[in-house]
Amino acid sequence: MSIISTDIEQAVRLLTDAQLVAIPTETVYGLAGNIYSEKAIHRIFSTKKRPFFNPLIVHIPTVKALEKIVTHIPEKAKLLAAAFWPGSLTLVLKKNSTVPDIITAGKDTVAVRIPNHPVTLALLAKLPFPLAAPSANPFGSISPTKAAHVEAYFKNDIQMILDGGSCANGIESTIIGFENETPILYRLGALTLEDIEAVVGKITIKNKEEESPEAPGMLARHYAPKTSTFLVHDVAAEIKKHAGKKIGVLVFKTTLNTPDIVEIILSKNGSMQEAASNLYTAMHALDAQQLDVIIAEKFPEFGLGKSMNDRLQRATFK
Ligand code: TXA
Ligand code: MG
Repeated sequence: MSIISTDIEQAVRLLTDAQLVAIPTETVYGLAGNIYSEKAIHRIFSTKKRPFFNPLIVHIPTVKALEKIVTHIPEKAKLLAAAFWPGSLTLVLKKNSTVPDIITAGKDTVAVRIPNHPVTLALLAKLPFPLAAPSANPFGSISPTKAAHVEAYFKNDIQMILDGGSCANGIESTIIGFENETPILYRLGALTLEDIEAVVGKITIKNKEEESPEAPGMLARHYAPKTSTFLVHDVAAEIKKHAGKKIGVLVFKTTLNTPDIVEIILSKNGSMQEAASNLYTAMHALDAQQLDVIIAEKFPEFGLGKSMNDRLQRATFK
């Protein structure tokens, strides 16, 4: 029997019983558990095979719920929350002592967001506790944007995937932390840098592990298919380097017209939003085809293109 279901009451029962439930969000599916249950949180780390140094994001239903999670909200964090919540923005703020250390990897800050998905907002509203939810994939692999992706990863490990359809944004939330009240971008994501800067002005990016001990988990290799992957400007030229191999290509908007090559076009209209919503589904699909290599086309380096290039870059790192 499939573990995919739309039964919110069943999700409430399982989560209340320290079990995990995969939940839909507008970014990617999350593997959720009660933040106050040590048993549930340990299950998240063991199911994902995630190292304990990598902290989790706490999901709350309302800005009011933030009071129990954090002790201080910088002015610019207030502006960002007002502009983008519910939505694909995660804020890293000083944590309240009641938030368990295992959630934050021992740090004195906690990552928190209000997701913008009606099913998960309805679920959160019924629960007396927030949900910790990392993306619902084994550590390092491609994040899931459909219930079926989660099922393929974890059907033997969890009891329920709450179905909310395909994730509209398709790429993880953008993470913003604060150093002396100044916003710093730790992870590019579904909310563009340009949109954020329109609210709080120019911000610094620190999204590489070496430059950002403040944001553990920003690993050079991540979001990676099992198939060897390349990210290039000129896909046709790269194809020539892999003569004789079974090749899959991921292009932004224009077909290469190459027979014998599996090709996925991410947005025929050239919409970055549409491309982002299709990106991980396309990577899952190509990775399932026993190819020798996947060649992905670089996006223009602005807006969501910048975020997608970040993910593809990490997918290619060996
Ligand atoms: O869109 C998303 O953010 C999805 C959905 C499910 O909400 N979640 C997600 O979680 O992408 P995850 O665990 O795959 O990525 C969380 C990242 C960590 O790798 C870490 O870099 C950062 O959030 N993070 C969490 N807590 C932090 C903290 N206290 N300080 C700095 N970075 C933190
Ligand atoms: Mg993840």
